[in-house]
Amino acid sequence: MDKKVLQDHVDEINDLIYDYLPEPDPFNTELAEAVSYSVKAGGKRLRPLLMRETFRMFAEGRDEPEILYAFMAAAEFIHTYSLIHDDLPAMDNDEYRRGQLTCHARYGEAAGILAGDALLNRAYEIIFDAIEGSEEPDDYMGGISAARVLSQKAGMYGMVGGQYVDVYADKHEEFQPDEKSLQYVYLNKTGALLQGAMMAGAILGCASDLEIDLVEKMAGYIGLAFQIRDDILDVTGSQEVLGKPVGSDAKNEKITYVTLYGIEKAEQMVKAYTDRAIEIFDHFRFKNAFLRDLILYLTEREK
Ligand code: IPE
Ligand code: IPE
Ligand code: MG
Ligand code: MG
Ligand code: MG
Repeated sequence: MDKKVLQDHVDEINDLIYDYLPEPDPFNTELAEAVSYSVKAGGKRLRPLLMRETFRMFAEGRDEPEILYAFMAAAEFIHTYSLIHDDLPAMDNDEYRRGQLTCHARYGEAAGILAGDALLNRAYEIIFDAIEGSEEPDDYMGGISAARVLSQKAGMYGMVGGQYVDVYADKHEEFQPDEKSLQYVYLNKTGALLQGAMMAGAILGCASDLEIDLVEKMAGYIGLAFQIRDDILDVTGSQEVLGKPVGSDAKNEKITYVTLYGIEKAEQMVKAYTDRAIEIFDHFRFKNAFLRDLILYLTEREK
């Protein structure tokens, strides 16, 4: 993966999604500041990136509709809210994220909770606005369908459900996750939003139902690989590079793929799940070389 090319994509995405940040109102300047502080801190922008490239793969050169940008912002806002809440004392209790103090460490716990809530609601507000404003029937119908998928994947049968079991395990010693429950957690806390993002891109790109199902499967494998790599980096990485503390999982006595299998086996699993994703990818009738490279690059990412 050419780092410069990747950075250009990320810069473009930042330009597109910052436009969707909520305007401060006079009584809420600090809340708006906390929201923008967390979003603008940076981050890999993986979910909007994957969404856009999946759209491009299926849309085959069709122009990008405005509604795609709304969904890209929504996915990143939902993700950012999940990180703000993940860092709260009630969850992982971390004080550093994306190279700066976490939202609650900087603005206080109540602001952290509400900034997360604000981002989640803003995400759906943007989506509804875009659906209402869409001129093409495909965008309108696709928008509704993509919104349903994204909300389901972000909710209790997706990301929120996975996060719940993840923190439940930390707080209940009698519950020792095994391979099966850990896979549930990873597929949901991390895989689900990647699925929602890629499926939304596929839907807006007018992929068929069968293709959307395959995208869901493929993104699930990407999610498993991505979270196992995250666990590895929590042990082998550095705060300077990651922008978040290492050793967060150990601090919370979390059972992860690394504690269950060891680093070496976990690394093999990252590769094995990525291979499965690529196997699906290579069956699509359309190609996107950049997206393929990106999926492969994630296995060796250092942040
Ligand atoms: C971190 O996500 C949380 C996980 C799901 C592992 P990212 O690694 O995508 O975080 P940012 O967006 O780059 O900060
Ligand atoms: C978080 O997993 C997943 C979500 C926020 C949904 P982690 O707790 O491992 O993420 P990091 O390591 O804090 O980024
Ligand atoms: Mg966590
Ligand atoms: Mg965490
Ligand atoms: Mg982690």
